[in-house]
Amino acid sequence: MAFDVEMIQRVYANLGERVEAARQVVGKPLTLSEKILYSHLFAGTPTEAFERGKTYVDFAPDRVAMQDATAQMALLQFMQAGRPKVAVPSTVHCDHLIQAQVGADEDLDAAKNKNKEVYDFLASISDKYGIGFWKPGAGIIHQVVIENYAFPGGMMIGTDSHTPNAGGLGMIAIGVGGADACDVMAGLAWELKMPKLIGVKLTGKLSGWASAKDVILRVAGILTVKGGTGCIVEYFGEGAESLSATGKGTICNMGAEIGATTSIFAYDEKMGDYLRATSRAEIADAASAVKAHLRSDDEVYADPAAYYDQLIEINLSELEPHINGPFTPDLAWPLSNFAKAVKENNWPERLEVGLIGSCTNSSYEDMTRSASVAAQATSKGLKAKAEFTVTPGSELVRFTAERDGILNTFEQIGGVVLANACGPCIGQWARHMDDPSRPNSIITSFNRNFAKRNDGNASTHAFVASPEIVTAFAIAGDLTFNPMTDTLTNESGEQVMLDEPAGIEQPVKGYAVDDAGYQAPAEDGSGVQVIVSPTSDRLQLLAPFKAWEGTDLTGLKLLIKAKGKCTTDHISMAGPWLKYRGHLDNISNNMLIGAVNFYNDKTNTVKNQLTGEYGEVPAVQRAYKAAGIGSVVVGDENYGEGSSREHAAMEPRFLGVRAILVRSFARIHETNLKKQGMLALTFANPADYDKVQEDDSIDIKGLTSFAPGVPLTVVLHHADGSSDEFAVNHTYNEGQIEWFKAGAALNIIRMKQAANA
Ligand code: F3S
Repeated sequence: MAFDVEMIQRVYANLGERVEAARQVVGKPLTLSEKILYSHLFAGTPTEAFERGKTYVDFAPDRVAMQDATAQMALLQFMQAGRPKVAVPSTVHCDHLIQAQVGADEDLDAAKNKNKEVYDFLASISDKYGIGFWKPGAGIIHQVVIENYAFPGGMMIGTDSHTPNAGGLGMIAIGVGGADACDVMAGLAWELKMPKLIGVKLTGKLSGWASAKDVILRVAGILTVKGGTGCIVEYFGEGAESLSATGKGTICNMGAEIGATTSIFAYDEKMGDYLRATSRAEIADAASAVKAHLRSDDEVYADPAAYYDQLIEINLSELEPHINGPFTPDLAWPLSNFAKAVKENNWPERLEVGLIGSCTNSSYEDMTRSASVAAQATSKGLKAKAEFTVTPGSELVRFTAERDGILNTFEQIGGVVLANACGPCIGQWARHMDDPSRPNSIITSFNRNFAKRNDGNASTHAFVASPEIVTAFAIAGDLTFNPMTDTLTNESGEQVMLDEPAGIEQPVKGYAVDDAGYQAPAEDGSGVQVIVSPTSDRLQLLAPFKAWEGTDLTGLKLLIKAKGKCTTDHISMAGPWLKYRGHLDNISNNMLIGAVNFYNDKTNTVKNQLTGEYGEVPAVQRAYKAAGIGSVVVGDENYGEGSSREHAAMEPRFLGVRAILVRSFARIHETNLKKQGMLALTFANPADYDKVQEDDSIDIKGLTSFAPGVPLTVVLHHADGSSDEFAVNHTYNEGQIEWFKAGAALNIIRMKQAANA
């Protein structure tokens, strides 16, 4: 599991020169985020300034982390690159597929059985390609990353939206789709629009019941779920320096809830303490030596409004504990107002379950603070009135917490310790409930609380708070309880109050673990077989997409003219289909089933031009494919908005669609299409969308002289014998045209690998 010291030293060796070059081209003092971004350019030393919120920039991240659900397609694709090993240090974490039902051991065993083929595949492919593999039960991706891999000044991508958790150790860490992870592992550049910057100045110091979690709960209330979109949120000030590294991690983790690209803190003593406590003193020393580059320039701190696009100030000394929800994480209630809000909104007052832990809040500090509340309950004759669960973020934390009697303290008030995995945070929760449709309340120390997120029940009101507040509420079993002012009646009928929580940041006896659950990859993986059963319905090895045939495309059939919004969810639905995310053929049966057919206003009903009959979109497309006929998908504005889900681009390519022709694209989807060797085209005149008819055969001309900036031509042959011809635009550059010609971006890498072998 060893962190890559040499890689970190390389980053630090270049840092000074690159930061100085960036300062020159930008022409003013730099923020921390700019220092890290400019020192991770794919092209090396900065030679130009990039406009925030405008320019797309190619970066070279230091690391990749993948969770088990998204890793499947990322790694199946990576195999296509033909590389013997990943280009940058990478890890896989088995955390999302473990269902919480009874307790840690039983649930883990059940998951290992149920997901055996997925785990065997991920273990073997990791072994082969030099990827660190964290087995089921080892922990949740972000906790494991902050304990082992995050480092100040680094840049990483992860196939999970809470990857920014590593910002607690001063890293730019960004959540991406599997295709991006695949590219970086294959040695390609990773593109990102230069983010805007939001500065959050923290003054004062936390006390009493307030914790780091309350900072982000407050920020979410200020910025709302969209307020951080396209931005990096940078925290600074004396208040920031007073927070533990893991507390900083909690804040950065939940930056995802305001849509932020990522969040980050500057390197400080607290990060050094955490690095030393987690056996990484070398990194702490190396970071201390380049400390000036791991924080914003002094001028920025002196006049932040001049350097950030938006500035927020929070005084930690005045910060109250917050409870956010229900149904959205930006509905922020200070504790003192919460009981009133519960009554006024008629939210179920009885609290049924309190859940602590997850990737967001399972540090040793979180555990000790919560345990200090639980211990008081025991000593004061109280038991948890609500169900109470504890999800440790990693085996390191779990083992240490068990050794130090913390888990026992939770169990004494009725707590159930779940597996070190996502579990109830991602809906992997077999909740025991009499009537799932009954309105009810739960409270978690997790990050997301959208309807159905935790238990699949739309009637569950989920609130989010710090783990110590969740523990206090679980003891009270009542949402209107305020631990700062209210008493509880104990088993002897006495009125007792809970004292303020107290915790410690790092274990006095140090962290300990018996088996962390890590499998190191083979030194030479060339002889390792990737395990995929040919009869599996969850996993399927990919075959390379075919190269372009070298001619214009003629006689293509219109598959669907999609009307209005067509997001990646319309193109490749989630829900039950997620089971097939490692099996391209099976998941392709959801292709475009959510798109509305322009001609009949129905979903998943299009005309098969070969038979004249209507059928489901995937079935009609499979019929064209079987007949050796290509097709075209036509769409409206912002086609492919939503997630970066690569399946939305792979499925049409796999089933034989040759071009996506739309009024406009969502940029990430457009790039994904290009990477898969698909033609992504836009109407030069948006009104030409209206010329497309249901029975059209379509030609695409100009491909033999395909060049950047030169439009192509589309000819529509209508059923009545008439035709329309018009120009279509594209945004392919030279390299992307090569992707098209080779059949996919990864085909180029494979060809280069073969040429070098
Ligand atoms: Fe897992 Fe929930 Fe975190 S799904 S990665 S514990 S946000």
